[in-house]
Amino acid sequence: MKIAFLSDIHSNHHALEVCFDYIEKNNIDITVFMGDYVSDFPYPMKTLEMIRQFSLCHKSYFIKGNREEYLFDSLKNKTAFQKGSQQGSLLYTFENMTKEAITELNKLPIYLEIDTGECPLFSVSHSGIDNSRVLYYIDDGTARGFLLNQPYTLHALGHSHRRFILEEKGKVLINPGSVGVPIDTKGCTQMATAEYKDNKFIPELITLPFDYEAAIREFYDSGLYDYSNVWSRTMIAILKTGIHYNSQCVSLVKQMSKETGLPFSCEELWQKAARILKI
Ligand SMILES: [Fe+2]
Repeated sequence: MKIAFLSDIHSNHHALEVCFDYIEKNNIDITVFMGDYVSDFPYPMKTLEMIRQFSLCHKSYFIKGNREEYLFDSLKNKTAFQKGSQQGSLLYTFENMTKEAITELNKLPIYLEIDTGECPLFSVSHSGIDNSRVLYYIDDGTARGFLLNQPYTLHALGHSHRRFILEEKGKVLINPGSVGVPIDTKGCTQMATAEYKDNKFIPELITLPFDYEAAIREFYDSGLYDYSNVWSRTMIAILKTGIHYNSQCVSLVKQMSKETGLPFSCEELWQKAARILKI
């Protein structure tokens, strides 16, 4: 009994295709999609259609992430995202999705207990159990605290794009990393598997090369680059290096916003951060 975990695809259909190939060739029984399906990369409906087709012939489970919530909030409250480095990626994504797709994704839960009948019950969440925007890390002990609070022997979460396997007191916590915006694995996408064998779950982090140069070209061809300038530049830089440029950029802009009193959305600050990071 083998389970695949895919999180944080962020519309990167080039990377997703490679993960699907792996699943087909490696006797995976079920696939769990862990949210943040769209935004940051172009052509969101292409990714959603690929997932729909895949799920027709592969047993699949779904939860939603914070990006699906942002898009639905914009639809529900009729608040438009703004063009520019802070929100332009979300605006592009919103404009390139159907209202039906945004509404359907929002119906998914952020936490799910999965009973396959072939292995013990396990659980998944995009990040927290009741909040899709919390970050859990190994270094600061938050992942360990989370794991020890879980009722089942296996839990998987994503959101941080920081992959890990943590095992303690007979329990396993997996963060499969990010399919679409992978950190620390230059040119390679990330997913995870867990095999239930000899009465225990055996987790594994999977790293697979994909055509990231084709993914980069689409930023320009699609118009996404023009919508979200610096944000797209952080994505392209991540694909080329594996360095977590978007979080570094956000930290710099927050710091400069505090120092200058200018709003976080101020394009000038984003451009300055991009110059500092040399992206
Ligand atoms: Fe997320």
